[in-house]
Amino acid sequence: MERIDKVSKEYWDSGWEALELPPAVDFERGLLKNPIPRRFHEFFTQIFSGLRTSESSLLEIGCAASIWLPYFAKEFGFQIFGIDYSEKGCHLAERILDREKVKGTIVCTDFFNPPEEMIEAFDVVISFGVAEHFIPTERVLVAFARFLKSGGIMITLIPNMIGGVGFIQKWLNKPIYDIHVLLSCTELAKAHEKSGLCVISCRYFVSTDFSVVNLNGLSRNISFQLKRVLLRTLIWFSKGIWLFENVVSELPATQLLSPYIVCTSKKDK
Ligand SMILES: C[S@@+](CC[C@H](N)C(=O)[O-])C[C@H]1O[C@@H](n2cnc3c(N)ncnc32)[C@H](O)[C@@H]1O
Repeated sequence: MERIDKVSKEYWDSGWEALELPPAVDFERGLLKNPIPRRFHEFFTQIFSGLRTSESSLLEIGCAASIWLPYFAKEFGFQIFGIDYSEKGCHLAERILDREKVKGTIVCTDFFNPPEEMIEAFDVVISFGVAEHFIPTERVLVAFARFLKSGGIMITLIPNMIGGVGFIQKWLNKPIYDIHVLLSCTELAKAHEKSGLCVISCRYFVSTDFSVVNLNGLSRNISFQLKRVLLRTLIWFSKGIWLFENVVSELPATQLLSPYIVCTSKKDK
């Protein structure tokens, strides 16, 4: 099956060029805290509840600058691995592991052509914002699933580009919008099934987060300043919703406002 990569390696390399190390995942409760890391923590705790995580291995695909690998090691005791073909991105991932004093293995190579020993070697395979950059989606999911042991779990997270976040991304910075394949929850689930995986759940994830919108690559002119003001206003809207959720209760995730879609699937035994 022929495949199209919507983004080049050079694009990713330039993105990781001058990036400062991101802070660790902070999922503590608090009135003014962003509740999204906590929702992820609750989600992962539920998904991994039936797994002996301290005897299991987890691979993050597209692991550049990953703050999640140390989290999975510290919170669940997973033996952690990452794969990414960007040398700069891998170096950042290694520096984060050092900073968090966590042992892990980062493999700097193309995930379509991995070393033999990585095939069918992992209990959990996870990716954040990778699958939506390839056509057809099932082709990249087949490549991800090769890393799974039989009975293993795959978690695929993509940005929700068919809702409000996608609309604003298209309006403010179309070149970034254009590197994404537009997928609904149903389409992402179908692509997993076509790639031979058994879907456990596929859903929009968390109520809102406009900080997902990316203004990178725009020239710093007056139009950029106006776009930045608009985006900041939307991010304050998200913060207002989070405050409400912290005080009153969680709002539903919807196609219209959720920033992410997350699909959990299993490789049949
Ligand atoms: C959107 S980034 C995700 C990075 C990071 N984990 C995050 O959550 O921000 C996608 C990553 O996938 C990597 N990638 C894309 N195609 C790849 C391939 N064929 N083999 C290995 N890594 C690839 C890129 O280098 C990039 O670092």
